[in-house]
Amino acid sequence: MSKKKVLVTGIVPKEGLTKLMAECDVTYSEGEPFTRDYVLEHLGEYDAWLLMGQKGDREMLDAGKKLEIISLNAVGFDHVDTEYAKSKGITVSNSPQAVRVPTAEMTFSLLLAATKRLSFYDKVVRNGEWIDPSERRYQGLTLEGATLGIYGMGRIGSTVAGFAKAFGMKVLYHDVYRLPEEKEAELGVEYVTFDELVETADVVTIHAPLLPSTKHKFNKEVFQKMKNRSYLVNAARGPIVSEEDLIEAIKTGQIAGAGLDVFEFEPNVAEELRALDNVIMAPHAGTGTIEGRRTLAEEAADNILSYFAGQPVNVVNK
Ligand SMILES: NC(=O)c1ccc[n+]([C@@H]2O[C@H](COP(=O)([O-])OP(=O)(O)OC[C@H]3O[C@@H](n4cnc5c(N)ncnc54)[C@H](O)[C@@H]3O)[C@@H](O)[C@H]2O)c1
Repeated sequence: MSKKKVLVTGIVPKEGLTKLMAECDVTYSEGEPFTRDYVLEHLGEYDAWLLMGQKGDREMLDAGKKLEIISLNAVGFDHVDTEYAKSKGITVSNSPQAVRVPTAEMTFSLLLAATKRLSFYDKVVRNGEWIDPSERRYQGLTLEGATLGIYGMGRIGSTVAGFAKAFGMKVLYHDVYRLPEEKEAELGVEYVTFDELVETADVVTIHAPLLPSTKHKFNKEVFQKMKNRSYLVNAARGPIVSEEDLIEAIKTGQIAGAGLDVFEFEPNVAEELRALDNVIMAPHAGTGTIEGRRTLAEEAADNILSYFAGQPVNVVNK
């Protein structure tokens, strides 16, 4: 039987594709990633697409004439028209395990950097300047005894909760689903309404998916409810936060600062946001570790192998 043909787009570490390459006929670019035009022209020849760095929109899906499975090198799937894929009989799988720890670590790094004012302090020292940290306007937040509010208590949210407990934080969460009581006790977390979460937390971290119901969930009204000394950390998806309202909230002292791995109009980041000293930013690098990228590629490749073995896993458009 001829081998299944797999197209890999984006920059994916080759060592994560070893098994896939042994069992399938894999097209993979070691140099520049394939362009959208290249993918549109060639996708029709492939049975599977390991998708990174491209959108799985209608035009792309129409081009994938023989496509049976799209495996995403990511957990978020807001860049793929999953329903349209389903209507065409294309299975879409995501890769939830590999992203969990690196993204939770990035979230906590941003939380630490924002609350400890690291971006500002670093700039001061680099500029050959000095400040007196006994002045209140230069001070950050002690985490021990502070309250973390987690929005979206899934895989990444629960991992962040564990880190926060190690720092002695009290952890509240809000989600569309409440965890079973035993799980809440095991994690040491308390379920609250969305309003209670934003009104009480000293730091809010976002871990919900981007959906019509979560777009601009964090807006002017919400920032008005947050404490003046509180911080927002977003390592989920940019459009969950209204960037314009966030800038206003920080500039007017409605909240104390933010840690952002994701932005509303990536890769463009508003100049006003970039000018703020109390914002620490990363270029959507939540999974940007060597181990993270390798295991992510392995998980995405395994999705394809499981599918062709008749046992699809991590399917997001059943
Ligand atoms: N920055 C990065 O590089 C990076 C990496 C991985 C994941 N992410 C983002 O992080 C998100 C979370 O990942 P995960 O693996 O923890 O996903 P998950 O599915 O395990 O958890 C998401 C949680 O959000 C909850 N949720 C859904 N809708 C909600 C709503 N309207 N209000 C409150 N909660 C809601 C779900 O019930 C679930 O508990 C992903 O959707 C993705 O967008 C970002």
